[in-house]
Amino acid sequence: MPLLQIVYISTARTECTPVQLEAILASSIRHNKQNGITGLLVYLKGTFMQVIEGEEPAMRETYGRIKADTRHYNLLNLIETPLVSREFPSWHMALRTAKASAIPRNPQLLALVAGALDAERLKATPSDALSILSYFAES
Ligand SMILES: Cc1cc2nc3c(=O)[nH]c(=O)nc-3n(C[C@H](O)[C@H](O)[C@H](O)COP(=O)(O)O)c2cc1C
Repeated sequence: MPLLQIVYISTARTECTPVQLEAILASSIRHNKQNGITGLLVYLKGTFMQVIEGEEPAMRETYGRIKADTRHYNLLNLIETPLVSREFPSWHMALRTAKASAIPRNPQLLALVAGALDAERLKATPSDALSILSYFAES
């Protein structure tokens, strides 16, 4: 069965507390274990960026569930591509956040914040989205 990768960016309904983020993560992991989905979720200053990877039917179901969640809105697909092998195989979901004070010194964080403000531009350069996610995966 072919693998699919989806990357999107979205806006949190309200700025999330650590407890709220942990709740999203816990239910994501529970669902993703059942569905063979792996990926990474980044949260910074009211913006989410997430990569999910898995087999197509499970991906459609999962992305439907994510889109239906009212804790975020303005979902914009940045990448939707078939994969030969997973690029984010390590976690059924992991959460990474960063302090806003780290932004000015860090090109990946700057790109994420700029992308949130100008998501269409990030959509035009999807490799920027992957480099942001890879940066967080390694941090
Ligand atoms: C930013 C964000 C990321 C999410 N990521 C996932 C995910 O990776 N997998 C998933 O099944 N649901 C994901 N969801 C949806 C919810 O975590 C959850 O599955 C949904 O609200 C249903 O939760 P419940 O079955 O615990 O009631 C996400 C939601 C948000 C807001």
